[in-house]
Amino acid sequence: MEAEIKKRLQELAPDRVRFDAPLAGLTTLQIGGPAEVLIEPESLEQLRGVMNLVRRESLPWFILGGGSNVLFDDQGFSGVVLRLGQGFASLRVLESGGDEVLVEAGAAALTAGLLSLSRRQGLSGLEFLAGIPGRLGGALAMNAGAQGGQVMDAVHSLEVLEASNNLGRLDRDELRASYRQLDLPPGTVILKGIFRLHRATTEEVGARIEQVLTRRRQTQPHGVRSAGCVFKNPPGDSAGRLIDRAGLKGRQIGQVWVSEEHANFIVHRGRATSGQVLELMEIIRRDVKGKFGVELEPEIKIVGRAPQEGRT
Ligand code: EPU
Repeated sequence: MEAEIKKRLQELAPDRVRFDAPLAGLTTLQIGGPAEVLIEPESLEQLRGVMNLVRRESLPWFILGGGSNVLFDDQGFSGVVLRLGQGFASLRVLESGGDEVLVEAGAAALTAGLLSLSRRQGLSGLEFLAGIPGRLGGALAMNAGAQGGQVMDAVHSLEVLEASNNLGRLDRDELRASYRQLDLPPGTVILKGIFRLHRATTEEVGARIEQVLTRRRQTQPHGVRSAGCVFKNPPGDSAGRLIDRAGLKGRQIGQVWVSEEHANFIVHRGRATSGQVLELMEIIRRDVKGKFGVELEPEIKIVGRAPQEGRT
């Protein structure tokens, strides 16, 4: 990237721009090289200014949330990685009418933060999120889900920055969502989610959250580095079940291996590379295809070093 562009980025978001910034620590897998430029805008004005330049110059860009579903390349990312700052982490109850309560959560707010607000205020509808790490922006963008629930079921509307750099609002009936996917117009940045929750007691919400956490602890690894489920479930089946039946639990490359607790988790300790994770994913795909004829599709976002210009 030209020095002149870097300088302009710095001017647009003073003190919020870093060059050659390590990305590994910003992901739960803790893998990946540096971002050529990492920007953490604190205000809408900064974000708009940066996005304006990014779009005008067709710079490759990527919006990073909590990094819980991302695999960055060992070589890092040649372009601009944006991570929304605390100015985008609002959490507040907007209005309530009878049983329904609207709650606003900024894209940079933690899923755990929204969940603890729901618990404190006895608001039901997002308990399935318990134990899913990350930020709301990522959870919305991929329609995160677990244990029968998915984020879109609780969404009332989204506030976004459109590709035109205008602010926009998308109501639930304008959003096309499916399993682990939300189809937004290309170039859209999610700023806020407005959630429609339901009144319950704090005890009821707390009990459901505990139930979800218990089930998660029984069936999934914890205390190790991972990016959650690596592959999407194929229609009508579980990727974890297929990988398990293919005899791949414990299959290891270096310090990276297929979890013994849940076969759709790739976990690691110590030093690991994205190359090793990708190699293990390839083995899994090949073996599952060979044994069951099923093509597994990655759920995690694999971010290459030099993506096509201007693409997320
Ligand atoms: N199974 C195995 N071996 C394994 C894992 C699972 O035989 O190693 C079997 C289980 O015994 C069960 C079936 O497969 O009969 C389904 O397993 P589980 O209930 O764990 O659900 P899953 O379909 O494997 C999905 C989500 C998880 C989510 C759980 C719980 C996907 C890709 N995975 O897993 O989400 O936490 O349900 O609701 O949709 C994630 O998205 O990162 C994630 C982990």
